[in-house]
Amino acid sequence: MKPGRVITGAIFVGGAGVIALLVNSCSIAPATVAAPPAIPGASFVGNKTCADCHSGITRSFPTSAHARIHLEDTRAIGQTGCESCHGPASLHVAGGGGRGKFIVNPGKDPAACFECHRQEEAEFQLPQHHPVLEKKMNCAQCHDPHGSDILKPSGGLMMARQNETCAQCHREQTRPFVFEHPALREGCTACHNPHGSINAKLLTQRDANLCLRCHAQAPGPAGSLYIGNVDHTSLIRMGSCWSSGCHTAVHGSNVDVRLRY
Ligand code: HEC
Ligand code: HEC
Ligand code: HEC
Ligand code: HEC
Ligand code: HEC
Ligand code: HEC
Ligand code: HEC
Repeated sequence: MKPGRVITGAIFVGGAGVIALLVNSCSIAPATVAAPPAIPGASFVGNKTCADCHSGITRSFPTSAHARIHLEDTRAIGQTGCESCHGPASLHVAGGGGRGKFIVNPGKDPAACFECHRQEEAEFQLPQHHPVLEKKMNCAQCHDPHGSDILKPSGGLMMARQNETCAQCHREQTRPFVFEHPALREGCTACHNPHGSINAKLLTQRDANLCLRCHAQAPGPAGSLYIGNVDHTSLIRMGSCWSSGCHTAVHGSNVDVRLRY
């Protein structure tokens, strides 16, 4: 394979429909061979064809992270992308298009995404997870597949936006509070794995370590341990920081500056 480039896929294999990916930078495992969704009898037509009927999407797509994926197929270089998620579209186009007409919609089934994102597939199989595999929600509720903001949850300054994404469904944790917990400014992912986790409530850690990352314990008199200016020596042994009697209002409180209720 060509030196000097990161090759994350193999080569397009004739008519077998196996696609090879060449990307400049990415987080997916090397040597992934990604097969786009199969549509019996259909062949690839390229992004330009889609523009005839879906111009809004084809206009914004070049700004998407996915537009940087090239298929190693001479017929398709520089013009593929749509079909790596939606499958070969010749029959869809020939029939004038339409919903459910010879086209795959990964908003209904994330299998196409998992061809390239194995790591995320594994995350959704963890004991605690957002019910995407159960088809109660989909990737597009948190990720824009066509625009520049694919990772709408977490780009740069966009932590507030991440919370907004989560707010569509979790109003209780995202409403304004008199006493806000500044941790939320780092976004919900400061404490939750958005796809899945081995811990209850999708937490990144199941115990005090979740909180100690930002709230250092300091030694006090006679071997005691302080967090802030409160002696936590015995408290910290009582269970999680958010267990009953302690900081149960971890997302914010309207009545208690110490986020206890
Ligand atoms: C000749 C016009 C035409 C072309 C060309 C065309 N489509 Fe469509 N497509 C449609 C129409 C019409 C619909 C139905 C949209 C609607 O009802 O809003 C549709 C729907 C879709 C849907 C939604 C399917 C569903 O079940 O929800 C997808 C995905 C799609 N097209 C992808 C593509 C892709 C990718 C291309 C290019 C490879 C393409 N289309 C080319 C006309 C076209
Ligand atoms: C990364 C995978 C991916 C790529 C690449 C991709 N799409 Fe999509 N597309 C999706 C997903 C996911 C949905 C479902 C969105 C939803 O449910 O809100 C979708 C939905 C659609 C729809 C239906 C929109 C509707 O109103 O329901 C059309 C049309 C479409 N895509 C066309 C395209 C075209 C044209 C391209 C290339 C310019 C493209 N897609 C590239 C993943 C992708
Ligand atoms: C053909 C392979 C392929 C498919 C199919 C695919 N992706 Fe990707 N995706 C990639 C690659 C490669 C990147 C990294 C792009 C880059 O960083 O330049 C990426 C990036 C992303 C990112 C942004 C990650 C980041 O750190 O910026 C998200 C989110 C994402 N994909 C979600 C999806 C979703 C949702 C689907 C299905 C609707 C999907 N992908 C389908 C290959 C794919
Ligand atoms: C509940 C919202 C949510 C859903 C549903 C969701 N994601 Fe994500 N995803 C996120 C958030 C938030 C991040 C950013 C994580 C971070 O910054 O730590 C992310 C990050 C990613 C990344 C980048 C990971 C990296 O290491 O850079 C990929 C790829 C991705 N998601 C793919 C998917 C796919 C594929 C699906 C559907 C099968 C999906 N996501 C469904 C919220 C979601
Ligand atoms: C489209 C709606 C939707 C979006 C957007 C969404 N969630 Fe969820 N969330 C759900 C559903 C549905 C469940 C599962 C509830 C259940 O199993 O009872 C859930 C469960 C959770 C749980 C576990 C709750 C429990 O009782 O175990 C946490 C934590 C969570 N979501 C955080 C987030 C975060 C953080 C985001 C943003 C990155 C987010 N959610 C975005 C719908 C959503
Ligand atoms: C400082 C860490 C932290 C941050 C940041 C955080 N959470 Fe949580 N979240 C928790 C803890 C701890 C729990 C478990 C509380 C419990 O079990 O009583 C939890 C529980 C939840 C639950 C389940 C609630 C229930 O009643 O079962 C949801 C939903 C949730 N969080 C959503 C969010 C959303 C959305 C955001 C971003 C706006 C967010 N969280 C930010 C720590 C955090
Ligand atoms: C991402 C960093 C971060 C994480 C994780 C975090 N916090 Fe915070 N928290 C802060 C910041 C910043 C403040 C405001 C400054 C301060 O009081 O230290 C704060 C303030 C607080 C306060 C108010 C203190 C006071 O007296 O005003 C409590 C209580 C609190 N956090 C509890 C928790 C608990 C419990 C957890 C774990 C579930 C947690 N925090 C996780 C960043 C974080």
